[in-house]
Amino acid sequence: MRDAAPTTIYLKDYTPFGFLVDSVHLTFDLAAHATRVTSRIAFRPNPDASDHQFFLHGEELKLIRASIDGATISPEVTDKGLTADVPTAPFIWEAVVEIDPGNNTALEGLYMSSGMYCTQCEAEGFRKITFYPDRPDVMSTFTVRIKGDLPVLLSNGNPSDQGEGWAEWVDPWPKPAYLFALVAGELVAHSDHFTTMSGRDVVLNLWVRPGDEGKCAFGMEALKKSMKWDEDVYGREYDLDVFNIVAVDDFNMGAMENKGLNIFNSSAVLASPETSTDMNFERIEAIIAHEYFHNWTGNRITCRDWFQLCLKEGLTVFRDAQFTSDMRSAPVKRIHDAIDLRARQFPEDNGPLSHPVRPESFQEINNFYTSTIYEKGAEIIGMLKTLVGDDSYAKALDLYFERHDGQACTIEDWLQVFEDATGRDLSQFKRWYSQSGTPRLGVSEDWADGTYTLTLRQRTEPTPGQDEKLPQVIPVAVGLLGPNGDELRETEILELTEAEQSFVFSGLPAKPMASILRGFSAPVILEQDHSDAERAFLLAHDTDPFNRWQAGRSLVQDTLLRMITQDATPGADYLDGLLAVLLDADLDAAYRALMLGLPTQSELAAALHEQGHTPDPMAIWTAIETLRQTTAQHVQDLLPRLHSETVVDEPYAPDAQQSGKRALGGAALALTTRLDGGAMAAQAYTRADNMTQQLGALSCLLRAGKGKEELSAFYDQWRHDRLVMDKWFGLQVSLAAPDAAAQTARTLTEHADFNWKNPNRFRAVMGALAMNHAGFHAAGGAGYALLADWLVRLDPVNPQTTARMCSAFQTWKRYDADRQALIKTQLQRIANTPDLSRDTTEMISRILNA
Ligand code: PHE
Ligand code: ZN
Repeated sequence: MRDAAPTTIYLKDYTPFGFLVDSVHLTFDLAAHATRVTSRIAFRPNPDASDHQFFLHGEELKLIRASIDGATISPEVTDKGLTADVPTAPFIWEAVVEIDPGNNTALEGLYMSSGMYCTQCEAEGFRKITFYPDRPDVMSTFTVRIKGDLPVLLSNGNPSDQGEGWAEWVDPWPKPAYLFALVAGELVAHSDHFTTMSGRDVVLNLWVRPGDEGKCAFGMEALKKSMKWDEDVYGREYDLDVFNIVAVDDFNMGAMENKGLNIFNSSAVLASPETSTDMNFERIEAIIAHEYFHNWTGNRITCRDWFQLCLKEGLTVFRDAQFTSDMRSAPVKRIHDAIDLRARQFPEDNGPLSHPVRPESFQEINNFYTSTIYEKGAEIIGMLKTLVGDDSYAKALDLYFERHDGQACTIEDWLQVFEDATGRDLSQFKRWYSQSGTPRLGVSEDWADGTYTLTLRQRTEPTPGQDEKLPQVIPVAVGLLGPNGDELRETEILELTEAEQSFVFSGLPAKPMASILRGFSAPVILEQDHSDAERAFLLAHDTDPFNRWQAGRSLVQDTLLRMITQDATPGADYLDGLLAVLLDADLDAAYRALMLGLPTQSELAAALHEQGHTPDPMAIWTAIETLRQTTAQHVQDLLPRLHSETVVDEPYAPDAQQSGKRALGGAALALTTRLDGGAMAAQAYTRADNMTQQLGALSCLLRAGKGKEELSAFYDQWRHDRLVMDKWFGLQVSLAAPDAAAQTARTLTEHADFNWKNPNRFRAVMGALAMNHAGFHAAGGAGYALLADWLVRLDPVNPQTTARMCSAFQTWKRYDADRQALIKTQLQRIANTPDLSRDTTEMISRILNA
């Protein structure tokens, strides 16, 4: 319920808790509407704290009784927690509370999903389970006894004892409450084991609902690979006898790294060739790795407070990206990450929701699980590694684990480790954590007498709360190419630390062509005025795979922008350059498929806005359609060859090689469909024996305005598979024509299988609507109104998912006055909803204040 005045929490106000917790014993008597939680907690005064006020967080708890050292007390309870008078010496706190997991639709705390009990405690969900100092710097060992008539009863740590209707778990590693987890249900295990580098045997279980057993093998392999990789690359070994993963259908996020008991959104772990796409497989592998890697970066070393969230998330995303690069293709992974960062983080960082990677204040921490904290946070680690070098990075990480194991840390601790390991002063580098906004990198060049001078400039636009920006340390990877495409200078890291700085390269035989920001060495916007011919040259010759791709991307983006603003037609530099790349059999298929990609419509809208134009979503959509049609005609003769080259005649495997081939084959099919009206796609649909190709073919048909029969056959085939049905819902909305998108989404919300309280299903429809740029922004505002209707409806049920989806409106100030007015009306309508959650209130007010 809405607070009278929402309170803002500040980083600068941090103080340690007045007490230390030596041990926590919890007993759960499970019942759907009256679960009893009995806690016995050993507290003692914290010698490092000055304030010894005893306050325990607690929300939506019914206190049955409480005692201190055995004597019953009557503490003062509010809707936020309780206070009590306590001894000045160590004491035992005991409490019994009652909670209602069966009515917990917010999916935070203890809740139920298809008859199964499960928990989600990050960030502040433990306070909905019992009274506790629910903050990450309070760490303790936990013993948990679960009573309930369900066959599988799980908690963190190692199993210690069990009997008829109960089980007990002991987690020997001190942890904050946000890593607590409990699961109880009728589950089946896919089991395996792993021998660690010191020879300990670890039992691995992936727990799923009966019926999902066939979707576990891939996740289990990913887990074992992750465990091995963390030993090989970071020297980190697993530290319990058992590692459990549970798949749940109702989950707000992707997955959660609870100690020894990871809980996953079933979409982030269950996979089979028939039901999952290659992209699903890759994502699942990365998320399994991510959660596993948290065992060291997050759990053994955790965060002092939630302002330090990037300490665990940025580092863990960086680690999972390294893992994916090692398991698959490093250039392809880097390109995917750049695409993703530009699609999600850049709009956030350049709009009303912009915030530093380490924010200084928040109202609701759940609103800060953002692309900025995760992905920009990971980019910062990548830059740090680039700046200090691989060896120093390894040394610093060893020191980090050695010095901080078992602690709750800050960004200062993290940077200190690097300063100590390398002797480098990182005070300017630290601005990456405190300054929000995406730096723009400007370039000018000078050439005379064999000397090439490259001048780099940096500038960051004002962002909410930050008008003045200081120069940041930007590692700019640069290589120089000669006129014939030979490399004159290999990649070198230029450290840009000033607002403007020149770098001199002398003794060159000819005027070079610079390849700047190779490997996307910093999360910045490169502003470089290249002609189409120069971009085409880099597309043909750049030796850096990222920048070669980038040259093609910039070329096509310029082409599209000129089509939109000047009615231009696609030029030969792009079309022939693309053809050459597609013909180059030395390039792997995945890379060539990426070359066929286009910037999103939303990115084009942002680019137009930057150039001073008001983006017209329909004009953007039309330009993309036209370009695709022209491209199809231009590469037409090549398509049969691409098709035959991408035939996979081995059994299906979701590996990099095969999925690259399917990606290229799918892209070729999409172009073919523009020429044959869907004849080939219809055949491909019939032949498909895996979801990648089945969904790919169906997409082609729908985009061509066909596929009605296939769509209903698909429904009949998959109506009993929840995850595939999410795809069925999502696809129709994503591929709906601009004037039909809102109506399509509305019709689907009336479908019997539209279970809107399930976050995956809700996002499948509403998320897809928000992502269908021309459809969402179609004139008249039906898309805005529909999304707003549903956000208002979902908010009391699930504030966290509602608030996250508000970001669909974050770019509203880019558009014309009519659209702004329509969006503003919806934003105000949401804001004025009685009892709006704190989560959504904060998001809407930040967006409205743009
Ligand atoms: N900590 C989780 C992760 O990054 C994300 C998460 C946050 C999940 C909050 C649930 C709730 O892996
Ligand atoms: Zn994480």
